[in-house]
Amino acid sequence: MLSKKQARAFFLVGTLVTFMIFIFLTIYSLSKAQDQSHAENITPAVVRGKKLWEKNNCMGCHTLMGEGGYYAPELTKIVERRGDAYIKAALMSKTPWQVHGRKMVAYGMTEQEANDMVAFFTWIGNIDLNGFERVVSPLAKDKVTN
Ligand code: HEC
Repeated sequence: MLSKKQARAFFLVGTLVTFMIFIFLTIYSLSKAQDQSHAENITPAVVRGKKLWEKNNCMGCHTLMGEGGYYAPELTKIVERRGDAYIKAALMSKTPWQVHGRKMVAYGMTEQEANDMVAFFTWIGNIDLNGFERVVSPLAKDKVTN
């Protein structure tokens, strides 16, 4: 049995040690070497694409890294999966894009806007996801594995 004094010392040392570990891991996680987003690749085009993504509520239907709506395909690896031209066609279409059944909003984006969206998706696609790779499209006929 620990005496009261020993129990107090045990508590204080234990708390201090775990607190120091916590602080160390926080600093380590935030350090530059741990950056998995490749923030240095964020160009003005990527930022414009991100703004378009927010302004148009793409997240209401689509997911990025699993976050968002489950109505439409996951888009984290969309550049790898479909390529620039396909993405631009979907975004610049004047009629709702609907090649697999469900309808997308007809955004009728300009070439510049579509290019900015592709820049954003390219940056997103190159984030190190720590093994998060398998995402299945909610469109049954269009199962994807990345
Ligand atoms: C109302 C829901 C909805 C919104 C909002 C929406 N989409 Fe879509 N999107 C869809 C659906 C549904 C599809 C699948 C269409 C198909 O292939 O038949 C799709 C397809 C796509 C594709 C092709 C995906 C693939 O795997 O073939 C891209 C790229 C895309 N959307 C980008 C966007 C962007 C960028 C925005 C915002 C500017 C957006 N979407 C907003 C519903 C939506």
